[in-house]
Amino acid sequence: MPRKFTSSTQAIPEVGAVPRHLAIIMDGNGRWAKKRFMPRVAGHKRGVETVRSMVKACIARGIEYLTLFAFSSENWRRPVEEVSFLLNLFVSALQSEIGKLHANSVRLKVVGDLSAFEPRLVALIREGEALTANNSRLTLTIAANYGGRWDILQAMNQLALAHPEKVGAFGEADLAPHLAMAYAPEPDLFIRTGGEQRISNFLLWQLAYSELYFTDTLWPDFDDAALDAAVLSYRRRERRFGRTSEQLTENAVSPAPTLGLPATGHDA
Ligand code: IPE
Ligand code: IPE
Ligand code: MG
Repeated sequence: MPRKFTSSTQAIPEVGAVPRHLAIIMDGNGRWAKKRFMPRVAGHKRGVETVRSMVKACIARGIEYLTLFAFSSENWRRPVEEVSFLLNLFVSALQSEIGKLHANSVRLKVVGDLSAFEPRLVALIREGEALTANNSRLTLTIAANYGGRWDILQAMNQLALAHPEKVGAFGEADLAPHLAMAYAPEPDLFIRTGGEQRISNFLLWQLAYSELYFTDTLWPDFDDAALDAAVLSYRRRERRFGRTSEQLTENAVSPAPTLGLPATGHDA
């Protein structure tokens, strides 16, 4: 049985030196290209290079889960040529990278509403996931046609169908296992490149207690040093999960009162 993770508003994860789960909104490809008088799609192509280097960088740093927002449920509103370029790029990246990911013991997952994709892409995704299902070095999740609201709604509908007798009495722990990323702990660190400071309908439920980091660096320029700067910022944060700073210091010596919440309730 795959492990299910509970919500961090109920269970407090262990805070390590490196985020266990890093989630990134890869933004700024279009502007990167525009600055170079190139078409926007050249930025997307370059962005795939950054994905490749970030997978390596996360493995080298011991990050266990890397989640990348590749295409949002709102990105269909872009010009049709750009949308089809992005989908074709996804197909070709899957084709060229899946063998290398597998060789590096990376488990691939794709989350989002795949019903909108053509069968060829869905088949590639499912094959890639199946091939890498037992790999354990890094779980790489690509969010494609993903929206945080879509995720919460599909989870709610699944739950209501599974337990019609309990409608009106569901708790967080009932819903969480039906979310698209139930196989992963919630993100410890969220990074958005490209200068915008918004969530853009990414992991709405799962980011409840993530540390947020925004950088002006455009995604194609995001390199190992930029990643290290984000991780350093993360290390300096105090993750209180509703407690006071004093409680955390006491907790280092003896367990603090739980106030109804498990002190180390993370089920990992
Ligand atoms: C992010 O880069 C990639 C996707 C949304 C697919 P953008 O294409 O949004 O780049 P900017 O924000 O226009 O620079
Ligand atoms: C968010 O980027 C989605 C992805 C990176 C896939 P956008 O560039 O589409 O976000 P908004 O629309 O500017 O907020
Ligand atoms: Mg953008």
